[in-house]
Amino acid sequence: MTRPILTALQTDITTLDVEVVVNAANRALTMGGGVCGAIFEAAGVSELSAACAALGGCNPGDAKITSGFRLPARWVVHTVGPVWRGGHLGESGVLASCYRRSVEVANGLGARSIAFPAISTGIFGFPRESAAQIAVTTLSASRSGIERIVLVAFDPETLRQYEALVAGEGWTGGPSVRPPSSGDRRKGRLLPASAVVRPSTHPQWGRAALNR
Ligand code: APR
Repeated sequence: MTRPILTALQTDITTLDVEVVVNAANRALTMGGGVCGAIFEAAGVSELSAACAALGGCNPGDAKITSGFRLPARWVVHTVGPVWRGGHLGESGVLASCYRRSVEVANGLGARSIAFPAISTGIFGFPRESAAQIAVTTLSASRSGIERIVLVAFDPETLRQYEALVAGEGWTGGPSVRPPSSGDRRKGRLLPASAVVRPSTHPQWGRAALNR
């Protein structure tokens, strides 16, 4: 049981070379919009739809697994976040459960790395700042065989929130990274911006730190 290295990155989650990518799914596990649509498109709509159809749906707060098919990621963990209805219907607890259960099922696969989108903060309307707090608090408390957790932001404000929270949690394993420039990214690889972090100053954050 290890404490994971937690990092934040602004990118398209479907490009990441991690073992597990988390999908912000719906209860039926059908293709949606947002990050769900991007994951289905990148994995292969017909293959991922067929795999999801065999799972019999998923309750909010729970998580289920499929192959990643054509994604760089080997697996997709589909978790169903809460629809925001004002905050008095247990939405925060359900969101925390999404993060906890996703780590549990990924750990059950023997995975070492996992990337999360900002679950429920798009179509489902969960306030971004509270959602970021729940994500960081819940994942910081997780202990499993997973060594690296990437919090993926799709916008600069969410990235800023993650970076502030991760810094506040006092992570020692590695700093958050900024949006990569075109020179920082190769397909299927996740590279830190070298101007921000150098391996010599952060020995656990080498060029291959997020590769499988
Ligand atoms: N990579 C990373 N993050 C992304 C991407 C992407 N390619 N596309 C969108 N996002 C971000 C959004 O900016 C948002 O912050 O993912 C976050 C979650 O937004 P949604 O995808 O709308 O997910 P959610 O709010 O949980 O709503 C789930 O939407 O697509 C449907 O089937 C899904 O019904 C379900 C609902």
